[in-house]
Amino acid sequence: MDVFHIDGGVRLEGRLRVNGSKNAALPLMAAALLTDKPVTLRDVPGLADIRNMVSLLGELGCEGELTEPADASEPSVLSLHTRDETSSHARYDVVRTMRASVCILGPVLARRGAARVSMPGGCAIGDRPIDLHLRGLEALGAHISLDSGDVVARVPNFAQGGRLRGATIFLGGSFGSTVLGTANVMSAATLAEGTTTIESAACEPEVVDLAKLLTSMGARIEGAGSPRIVVHGVESLAGADHTVIPDRIEAATFMAAAAITRGSLTLENCPVDALLAVTDCLGHIGVGISVGPHETDPMRVTCRVSPADRLAPVQITTQPYPGFPTDAQAQLMALVALADGNSVITEKIFPERFLHVAELTRMGARLLRQGSTVVVSGVGGLTGAPVMASDLRASAGLVLAGLAAKGRTTINRVYHLDRGYERLEERLERVGARITRAKSEELVAA
Ligand code: EPU
Repeated sequence: MDVFHIDGGVRLEGRLRVNGSKNAALPLMAAALLTDKPVTLRDVPGLADIRNMVSLLGELGCEGELTEPADASEPSVLSLHTRDETSSHARYDVVRTMRASVCILGPVLARRGAARVSMPGGCAIGDRPIDLHLRGLEALGAHISLDSGDVVARVPNFAQGGRLRGATIFLGGSFGSTVLGTANVMSAATLAEGTTTIESAACEPEVVDLAKLLTSMGARIEGAGSPRIVVHGVESLAGADHTVIPDRIEAATFMAAAAITRGSLTLENCPVDALLAVTDCLGHIGVGISVGPHETDPMRVTCRVSPADRLAPVQITTQPYPGFPTDAQAQLMALVALADGNSVITEKIFPERFLHVAELTRMGARLLRQGSTVVVSGVGGLTGAPVMASDLRASAGLVLAGLAAKGRTTINRVYHLDRGYERLEERLERVGARITRAKSEELVAA
């Protein structure tokens, strides 16, 4: 198992390219199961989750080849082609390692008439049920049952020409909507008979990107990015060539990395249009964010992050898009741990997503958790320590703390980071960070 050693206290300076989004890419990849024509996805990040999805698609008869450039700043190309539609089972072994496997459910069901997907269990950030995905597919006419821990979904009379049927579906819950649930239902509805209206749909940019790919495959979708998505079903879909949107959470993490080290970073291919809640929050903290001139696509701009004179405290509440993203909560907590005053952070999407709190405390942060709220009393500095990564974004928060801390921080279980940040240590090193990857045995000797 790998660890990161970080010797903190260096200002980050330089340029970084924001890579394609993991959370956009995963449902885009699943959409290749909706057609037997080739689908090409560009700027897919070379991450463990993407490789797991390629192998899951392979088990489902969809061949995938990821061409990764030697230089991490060059976009990759993923070629997908479904050639065999006989299998419909996403096994426990695969789903266990990657919850997002659930996003094959809608495409496989709609195209093959049946899907069997191991029910994802809880994960480090909470229970994470899929009841809304299932309710949505049931509303489209699927029969759903549970067998030996697998969700078994079936389109009645599929062999006799039966299809899913368009319907009006409410996908809201007490937390807002569901991102992958919206992806599943929207994808399935593209091949349904008639019109589907998804009310309380997730508005996240990743859903918009999926609608864009589906539309270029021939789907008829209106309203993606708003809480009401209307899908007019078609008989079949074609192939497409699509470039994945840049990763807004990677961009937010880099912005926070610049801010916490009091450095200046220029971010290329930065989706500022999808980051307004984060940039507004950074603005209140005192961090400067400026967008380059002559930018035409607000999802792919060059932007410069410049240091704050002093870090001001803020209040942050995570919310569905366009609110503050839960996936950037840990990173901003690390940042305001060094603010001049008390900040309050409330988690409304995953109320248990605070595994980083105890680890940041070991580095000298002053954090008081009450339920889904953490009061962060800013301190003058953090100190390096051995810490344990627990989930992807908690780990990113610990890396940021390590970059700012005095002395050495060793982050254990870096595989969590490798799921969501491509070659993070190489890229941070390029802008001045003193960060190295090592095998965990070296921890003993260090
Ligand atoms: N929920 C339900 N029932 C459902 C589905 C969701 O109660 O059927 C609840 C969840 O428990 C949670 C809330 O709804 O409280 C939102 O969950 P959502 O379904 O939107 O999450 P997701 O689609 O499973 C995606 C991202 C997560 C990100 C969330 C929220 C992917 C692969 N994952 O998950 O990303 O935190 O949306 O924005 O897209 C990450 O990248 O670190 C990550 C966890």
